[in-house]
Amino acid sequence: MEYFTTTSKPSRRAVDCVVIGVFDRNKPGNSATDIDTASGGEIRRLIKSGDISSKLGDCSMLAGLPGVRSSRIAVVGLGKPSDFKSRHFRKAVAAAATAIAKTRAKQILNCLTLEDVDGASPYYLARHSSQVINESLYRFTRMKSGRKPRRSALSKIGLSVAKRGDAAQSLRGAEHGDAIAAGVSLARELGNLPANVCTPSYLAREARKMAQGKGKLTTRILNEAEMKRLRMGSLLSVTAGTDEPAKLIVMQYKNGGSEQPVVLVGKGVTFDSGGISLKPGPAMDEMKFDMCGAAGVIGTMAAVVKMRLPINLVVVVPAVENLPSGNATKPGDIVTSMSGQTIEVLNTDAEGRLILCDALTYSKRFNPAIIIDVATLTGACVVALGAHRTGVMSNSDDLRNELVAAGEQAEDLAWPLPLGEDYAAQLKSNFADMANIGGPGGGAVTAGCFLGKFTDGMTWAHMDIAGTAWKSGAQKGATGRPVPLLSEMLLARSGSLP
Ligand code: BES
Ligand code: MN
Ligand code: ZN
Repeated sequence: MEYFTTTSKPSRRAVDCVVIGVFDRNKPGNSATDIDTASGGEIRRLIKSGDISSKLGDCSMLAGLPGVRSSRIAVVGLGKPSDFKSRHFRKAVAAAATAIAKTRAKQILNCLTLEDVDGASPYYLARHSSQVINESLYRFTRMKSGRKPRRSALSKIGLSVAKRGDAAQSLRGAEHGDAIAAGVSLARELGNLPANVCTPSYLAREARKMAQGKGKLTTRILNEAEMKRLRMGSLLSVTAGTDEPAKLIVMQYKNGGSEQPVVLVGKGVTFDSGGISLKPGPAMDEMKFDMCGAAGVIGTMAAVVKMRLPINLVVVVPAVENLPSGNATKPGDIVTSMSGQTIEVLNTDAEGRLILCDALTYSKRFNPAIIIDVATLTGACVVALGAHRTGVMSNSDDLRNELVAAGEQAEDLAWPLPLGEDYAAQLKSNFADMANIGGPGGGAVTAGCFLGKFTDGMTWAHMDIAGTAWKSGAQKGATGRPVPLLSEMLLARSGSLP
């Protein structure tokens, strides 16, 4: 996608579509006043006659107006002016993008960036615009045979700015938004692919491909023999029942000199049947999404590389398939993790923590400034927070707050959950150093406590994305979360925000 910024009057730009907005009570937004005037009050007339709706998320497509050079005008409803916040802005832009995608428009001018959105800067308005437009154009078509649905023709997006001095900031926002959207799309694509295509080996190949021709990014893949040599007994116990070889994917981006890296660890269970503790049938297909943590950290790496952020970033993905068989790990089996701690596997369906613990221990070698694991870890987190917010646990109040704040800023929301001795005590085992489950209460937290036993000496956070990584039902599909949150955090950390 190409971007440009402009201070010229929306009515004077000969594009294929301009996007303007109207508020409730017959009130054209800042974006609409010029076009209303140039057309002799057409916008106000159409609002009055009920042909244009001001309801947030509605979009009326007008085929041109006298005095306006654009061949189409997308008029979106903005709702109540006093309610208009960045999430409403995003909804309005998405409505326009969806309507525009149905046309053959190639070049558009988004004037909604002229609205006052709760004081948001031109940078954020441009960034949200490019993110939202790209995200609403995403379609998963890879597995459909026959004629693929036509892709949107949109290739150039203009952003209106009030004054010349805002142009550079706005363009930077658009570029960052474009890069984050590319990361989100990659994460969605990997998540949506079925488990018979997206295997651990497939994820490894994709990670390798990403590094090709990029000097600052290198990828290394460890196979099972190498993991055995590292004594990753916990990780390997999860892959025991499948014929698909497990992979440990390590991606290193070096653009931050000698500073300690940020390490992101993503759960890459390409299919989670539960193993011998087999899951019930309904919706089991959705366990192809159990690698969305991996997709999220790989997508974040893609965004960071595209933005050329001046940081050191390491991504570690333990990738396995969790299946039952005659070789599978059984409830009651005791395994030895890379850290030396022993684990009684009381439930083979609590497999995410078993692969993550060894990936966390492995990651110590990078001497991380901070380490964050991202995982579709527990159904309990979905019960606690639903699909709206990612659960964040940490051994550092600062890091937890930093992540929650980044989520607010990026409109990719998260919420803190506790950790602590009382919860950790639920993991006691009569036979090993710990059990891999902590009983019925506080399941998201005891999972976090389990991981916390492998993070000594590191500033660590755990993000449970079980509720946020994908949608069920008619809109079934991966969301690409938490790529926006993590990208925001890395942008802020690297001082790359205006
Ligand atoms: N991948 C699942 C968690 C999950 C379940 C995510 C449903 C999203 C929707 C994880 O591996 C799992 O099975 N967790 C168990 C843990 C339990 C056995 C302690 C769970 O949440 O039921
Ligand atoms: Mn499981
Ligand atoms: Zn799982």
